[in-house]
Amino acid sequence: MKIKILKRTGLVLLSIVILLVAGYFGIAYHMKGRTSRQYSFESEKLDIPSDSASIARGRHLSIIKGCQDCHGTDLGGKVMMDDGGVGTLSASNLTRGKGGLPEGYTTEDWVMSLRHGVDQSGVPLIFMPSHETTLLSAEDMSAIIAYCMHVPAVDRELPQIKLGPVANVMGYLGKMPLLAVERINHTAPMLAKADTTESIEQGRYLAISCSGCHQSDFKGGDPVAPGMPPVPDITSSGAVGAWTQTQFIQTLRSGKTPAGHQLKNEEMPWKMTAQYEQKELASLYKYFRSI
Ligand code: HEC
Ligand code: HEC
Repeated sequence: MKIKILKRTGLVLLSIVILLVAGYFGIAYHMKGRTSRQYSFESEKLDIPSDSASIARGRHLSIIKGCQDCHGTDLGGKVMMDDGGVGTLSASNLTRGKGGLPEGYTTEDWVMSLRHGVDQSGVPLIFMPSHETTLLSAEDMSAIIAYCMHVPAVDRELPQIKLGPVANVMGYLGKMPLLAVERINHTAPMLAKADTTESIEQGRYLAISCSGCHQSDFKGGDPVAPGMPPVPDITSSGAVGAWTQTQFIQTLRSGKTPAGHQLKNEEMPWKMTAQYEQKELASLYKYFRSI
């Protein structure tokens, strides 16, 4: 009798395992299809400036838009993650050095990556937040490209991206932003120029960089990855609603909240927000308080 029950439980468990494995292979196959699909978008040209003011602006943007966080401060690329579960995620070497952008990488290719989230051959870029860069103004995008083309070549060969089981399943469930190309409105016209004076408008434009974690309504939500803290509401209905502008700016400069809580840079990138200009942080404050 006992043996029979054990046998039956064993069979049930075995079937569950088989179902899970089959389910995972199904998901992996599905994700393989989505990540290797070929897209085709009309190419666009942008005039890339070469004056020092534009290059300095491009450098500032490459910091506050997080390009340097992922691609390295020298833009020579970085392995962002390398573990059995998630897999290998490398952010490309964006320079002309060995292991860098392919020979003959044109301005149109740059725009294709930043506007549409696909590489030179039309295949999706993985984990590159093109759904955010697509919202850059033409002026800012040109300045970033100008800066990236201007930095010294770095020789750094990076391992190819390989999605592990955790990334495949999270990507499948829409819990990890792997495929920006699927989230972009590819026909939206490009904003010519963004507001650069202190205002709610400027805050709205800058806040795009916060939406990846704080959600598009900035009301926060679940942790962005397992083991991370939940993401707080940063609108007037969250703690920020009771902060003064000075407290808000101090928090984003020092990583320390008015309540004395020290934010960890790996969870909330305050070393990036610390490099925003005073007026940019003031605009963010005005915008978050307005919603
Ligand atoms: C969250 C991390 C992250 C941020 C932030 C980020 N990137 Fe990327 N980027 C990546 C990854 C990862 C790839 C590699 C995608 C691939 O190979 O599929 C990539 C690829 C690219 C490519 C395509 C290069 C190629 O090999 O085809 C360009 C161009 C690029 N990024 C530019 C930028 C710029 C400019 C910024 C800032 C405005 C930026 N990235 C911000 C992660 C990031
Ligand atoms: C990579 C994800 C990520 C990005 C990008 C991000 N944040 Fe955060 N932020 C977090 C997390 C997670 C916390 C909570 C950390 C903790 O509890 O220690 C947080 C906390 C905060 C807090 C403290 C709120 C409170 O109630 O204590 C503020 C303010 C904040 N973020 C503002 C911003 C702004 C402004 C931007 C964009 C310029 C931004 N964040 C971008 C993840 C992010």
